[in-house]
Amino acid sequence: MKKILFVSSEVHPLIKTGGLADVAGSLPLSLAQLGQDIRILLPNYGAIKYTQEVHKKCTLYVDNRTVHILETQLPDSDVIVWLLDYHEFFGDEGNPYTDKDGNPWANSAERFALFSRIAVEISQNRADLNWQADIVHCNDWQSGLVPALLSLEPVRPATVFTIHNMAYQGVYSKDIFQSLNLPGELWNHNLIEFYGNMSFIKGGIACADHITTVSPNYALEIQTPEFGYGLDNLLQHRHNDLHGIINGIDLEQWSPENDTRIPQAYSVDNLAKKSINKTALQKHFSLPEDESISVIGLISRLVDQKGINLVIACLESMVNYPMQFVLLGSGDKDLEHRLTNLSYLHPDQISIKIGYDEDLAHLIEAGSDFFLMPSLFEPCGLNQLFSQRYGTLPIVRHTGGLADTVVDTLPETITDHTATGFVFNEPSVGALLETIKRALLIYANAKVWKQLQKNAMKKDFSWEKSAKDYIALYNC
Ligand code: ADP
Ligand code: GLC
Repeated sequence: MKKILFVSSEVHPLIKTGGLADVAGSLPLSLAQLGQDIRILLPNYGAIKYTQEVHKKCTLYVDNRTVHILETQLPDSDVIVWLLDYHEFFGDEGNPYTDKDGNPWANSAERFALFSRIAVEISQNRADLNWQADIVHCNDWQSGLVPALLSLEPVRPATVFTIHNMAYQGVYSKDIFQSLNLPGELWNHNLIEFYGNMSFIKGGIACADHITTVSPNYALEIQTPEFGYGLDNLLQHRHNDLHGIINGIDLEQWSPENDTRIPQAYSVDNLAKKSINKTALQKHFSLPEDESISVIGLISRLVDQKGINLVIACLESMVNYPMQFVLLGSGDKDLEHRLTNLSYLHPDQISIKIGYDEDLAHLIEAGSDFFLMPSLFEPCGLNQLFSQRYGTLPIVRHTGGLADTVVDTLPETITDHTATGFVFNEPSVGALLETIKRALLIYANAKVWKQLQKNAMKKDFSWEKSAKDYIALYNC
C-alpha cells in the first residue's frame, strides 16, 4: 500500500472544465478500492460545488502567504480531498483558468506556483497533517513545478507526472519566474528553463521519476515535432520513463443501464428502449421527432483541438443526407457564432446549445446514434468511450487515444465482431464526409448496426486495468 498525493487543478464533481476532472474524480476511487491510501489536492475555488462536509485541517505559511488546508471527501466515497484555501488567488468566480468572462487569470503562474509549493509541503509531511507521501502523482502543467521542486530535496517521495494535454504548457517570461521567488537553481535548461522562458510542464517532464500520458498512441505522438511542441526531444530522451496508460471511465456515472439522468435506462439486452432517449433528445433540441432519421451528437470544449472548423466546413454538405446534428459546447466565441448561424439556416437538421450542461451531455450520449469527434489531436478523449458504452457509435479521427479506443468498421471487423465505430485519417472535409456517408449506409442495415452497438457496449472501459498499471509504476 502506498501513500499517494494526487495533485490536480480540477476534480469532478467539485469543479470541471474537461476530461482531467473526470480522471481526477474517478482514478483515485479506483486506486483506493485497490488498497492505496490516496489523498487529492485541489485549490479551493470559489466555484466549487460542495455536497460533503468541509472542515479546516491546518494552516501553512509559504512564500509570505498564509494558506489554510481544508478537508472534504469525494462524494459517496471515503477518498479525502485536501483543498488549498487561499482566497486572494482562488476565491473569485470563474473557472480554474479563466475569469467569468473567459479571460485567462492574469496571475495563473502565481496561482499554480503556490499550488505546487503547497503540494511539496504536504507531500513532505511539513503541513501538520501527519502524513508523509510515498508518491506524488501530478497532472498537467499546473502541478509541473512539483517534481522540479522535489528534485532539489535530498529525501523525497517518488514522482509521477501525467500529461493530459501537451498543448497547454504554462510558459511564462523570465520576469515572472523571478517574481515567483522560486529557487534560482531551477533556471536551468535541464529543468524548467525553456528557450529563455520558464515552462511549468517542462518541470514535470524533466524531473519526474515517471512520466505518463493518457494513451499509448499519444505517448508515441508527443515524441515527434508535430505533437511535442518543442519538448519532443526531451520526451525522446526520457522514453524509458514514459508510459501510455489509457484512461478509464466512471461506470457509476456513465452506464446506460443505471443512468438516472436520462429519460429511459437501457442495456445491451433491451437496446430498443434507446429510441425513447432519441425522441427526448430531438424534442429537447427542437428537431423533428423521427426515430428513423440518424442523429449525430457532439459534446465538446469549442477549441481548435477538437476539429470544430472541420465540422463547420462539413455541415453544409451533411444536411444533404438524412441526418440531424446536435451539439453542446462552449469556448471560442467565433466558433460558437458560426455554429449557431448554421442552426438558423437549417433548423430542421442542425441544433446547437452553447453552454456547459452535464445532464444534457448524458441525454446526447444516450439519444444519439453517432458521436462525432474529429479531433486534430486527442491525448485520450473520454466522450468516445462514453458513447461506446451507450451504443452510440463514434466517428473519430485516427489520432491519439481515439485511434487506441475505436475499432473501424471494415468487412473483417464486422465479421469478427470487433468493430465499434468509424475512423478516418485525413483532417479534411472530403475524408470526414466520406466517413459519415459510410456510417449512414451501415446505419441503414439494421442487423449489422445492432451488432456494432453490441460490440461497442460490451467493451471494458473500467478503470481497473489502468489503475493497476499506475500501481505497478508506483511500485517501481
Ligand atoms: P477534453 O478534456 O480535451 O475536453 P475529453 O473528451 O477528455 O476532452 O473530456 C471532456 C469532458 O468534458 C467529457 O466528460 C465531456 O462530456 C465534458 N464536456 C465537454 N464540454 C461539455 C459541455 N459543454 N457540457 C457538458 N459536458 C461537457
Ligand atoms: C485532456 C485531453 C483529453 C483527455 C483528458 C483526460 O483534456 O484533451 O484527450 O481525455 O485530458 O486525460
